[in-house]
Amino acid sequence: MSFDTLAPVYRPLEWVLAGRLLQRSRTAFLPQLQGCRRALLLGEGPGRFLEELVAACPDLEVTVLERSPGMIREAERILAPEQRDRVRFEAVEIQNWCPASAPYDVVASHFFLDCFQPPEVARIVERVAGATSPQAHWLVSDFRVPRRGWRRLRAQWIHGIMYAFFRTATEVSARQVTPPDPYLRQAGFRVHGRQHFNCGLIYSAWWRRKAA
Ligand SMILES: C[S@@+](CC[C@H](N)C(=O)[O-])C[C@H]1O[C@@H](n2cnc3c(N)ncnc32)[C@H](O)[C@@H]1O
Repeated sequence: MSFDTLAPVYRPLEWVLAGRLLQRSRTAFLPQLQGCRRALLLGEGPGRFLEELVAACPDLEVTVLERSPGMIREAERILAPEQRDRVRFEAVEIQNWCPASAPYDVVASHFFLDCFQPPEVARIVERVAGATSPQAHWLVSDFRVPRRGWRRLRAQWIHGIMYAFFRTATEVSARQVTPPDPYLRQAGFRVHGRQHFNCGLIYSAWWRRKAA
């Protein structure tokens, strides 16, 4: 199995397991992106964030980097005909991606960086940050482990099940979540907003380049 095999059932599976929880996290800082021109979405999957992004920002041009052709097909299907010209899909392994055009002022990585081990997260953040403008935004949603108490134990238990599933069912190399925060800071980003969901199991963060 792979993300490609999971693609047709990914949306219904998320709905059954998490309802609107992950979508609330993906879109928590969407209103901050008004006026942006060029967005880069990493590992966008079946396009749940893309759908709301193109509706909220009618002037935005979007590039989606996604390795799975099946996920790309799912994401393409949700776009209205008049939105398709604004969205470009690149079927690419992120670690081999070379930025080809002018800088991006928005990056979004939702439930994506948790697929990688720390050195991979560091390389991805460095490479993608190198393709952003001096005042770029970076939205991140991901799973997290709270610092202490029953919330921590609960999150460790859920992460254990989740990683066992994804490591068996897909090409995910990670064994646990790697917070991208130190790498984003090193690349010049500062956190401007953060929200936690579901007893701290999930977070949404709005980062922006220091120059802003
Ligand atoms: C856990 S899913 C998250 C999908 C979506 N961003 C969301 O919010 O639900 C990870 C996505 O990243 C893609 N992906 C995983 N590893 C990748 C890689 N090395 N290069 C490009 N895409 C990758 C998968 O195909 C999948 O669609």
